[in-house]
Amino acid sequence: TKPEIGLIGLGTMGAALALNIAEKGFPIAVWNRTASVTHSFHAGAGELAARITPTATLAELVAAIAPPRTIILMVPAGPVVDDQLAALAPLLDAHDLVIDAGNANFHDTNRRVRAGLPFRFMGIGVSGGEEGARHGPAIMAGGDAADWARVDPVLQAIAARAEDGIPCASHLGPEGAGHFVKAVHNGIEYADMQMIAETYGVMRDGMAMPAPAIAETFARWNRGPLQSYLVEISATVAATVDPVTGAPMLDVIVDAAGQKGTGRWTAIEAQNLAAPIPVIEAAVMARNVSARRRERAEGEALYGPAPRPLAKELTLDDLEQALIAGKILCYAQGFAMMTSAGAEFSWPLDMPAIARVWRAGCIIRSAMLNDMAAALAEEPARNLILSPLFADHLLRCLPALRRVAAAGALNGLALPALGAGLAWFDLMRTARGTANMIQGQRDFFGLHGFERLDGLPQPHGPWAPPSI
Ligand code: 6PG
Repeated sequence: TKPEIGLIGLGTMGAALALNIAEKGFPIAVWNRTASVTHSFHAGAGELAARITPTATLAELVAAIAPPRTIILMVPAGPVVDDQLAALAPLLDAHDLVIDAGNANFHDTNRRVRAGLPFRFMGIGVSGGEEGARHGPAIMAGGDAADWARVDPVLQAIAARAEDGIPCASHLGPEGAGHFVKAVHNGIEYADMQMIAETYGVMRDGMAMPAPAIAETFARWNRGPLQSYLVEISATVAATVDPVTGAPMLDVIVDAAGQKGTGRWTAIEAQNLAAPIPVIEAAVMARNVSARRRERAEGEALYGPAPRPLAKELTLDDLEQALIAGKILCYAQGFAMMTSAGAEFSWPLDMPAIARVWRAGCIIRSAMLNDMAAALAEEPARNLILSPLFADHLLRCLPALRRVAAAGALNGLALPALGAGLAWFDLMRTARGTANMIQGQRDFFGLHGFERLDGLPQPHGPWAPPSI
């Protein structure tokens, strides 16, 4: 049978996604800019090759697909997507549907949707790396509901399934909503990774633990409330030995983190929305600082290394509890940011549905997302830290987070994400904050006015001269 789906871009993710689609029984036509890539992909597809139609040109790809066509774009985000859409424009009909499945900036997706392309267009976020794309990613879709209905059977079939069998593929809203949720996913991914790295730092530098012992600790945590893909792979990373030197792999890797920008987009968008996501912002900041190796070396030469080992009173149990607390605080911020975005962009973002989509397939999949979905289902717009279930968890874990953050501060071990989570929490649990001072200052120097607690009218303060 003639394929109804095509895929452009046979890089790591595109190739894996094409094989996944073929494996689920859907014939698919594929095209890559470099013909040899298409050829070797097809040659290496084994028994799935029979369901895959390799094509040599874009026109050949379009001709190989039965209308109304669906074409998945898996090319690098940015101008390459615009180029590809322009190249497809003269070849497609109004009923054909192009899906950008790359990590697009949601502003670009909004722009493309509004640009009046001569075909249907959707932006979907796909998470799970190569393994996920091949065997079951999480899919966060944005676009028109009618277009989603067309591709829903294929995308549900290729998606990961949570333990209850529900596929991790959902239509989350119009326009760039899918790519927006994917960006927040990536921001949380950065934060989860950073907090894990911070606990690794406490174990390595504060507790003088060798990599195998750290690996064992992560593996143990992965059997408890912290069960998650990222903790699991951190155990594997820490346990792996460098075949060249025989040293732990971690000890030979340069401590400068790469990034392609999605975490930064989330931080920028949070500022645009006035949504507080300090744990994610700290994670982006820490990656940026990590890249400044020379300056850090100069800093250490000037100020000396942090005192170590850390005070003995900190236990591995404290660290585990601190990470649990940090994770809850970070996710609470991420969901609150999406709630703000839903209101700002008039998108019906469904928080429990988003939590459910993240339960399997994606990089941030974890056991805790089940509870988050349940808590958000009770009251979707309520901050997670205000839900009885998570308040219960936090009350148990916060003393440990305080101990860890304090020990870090006293011993010069940087814990930016965990510390940012704690500071945000303390702001959030303080009914009478300190912004009254800021309002006084603003009125003093700029006559900006303020409200009185007793509601009495007061245009401006009777400020005493600054000399007293
Ligand atoms: C996913 C990931 C993925 C992302 C990489 C790299 O959900 O599968 O988020 O989309 O591209 O994790 O991101 P950085 O290079 O920015 O770390």
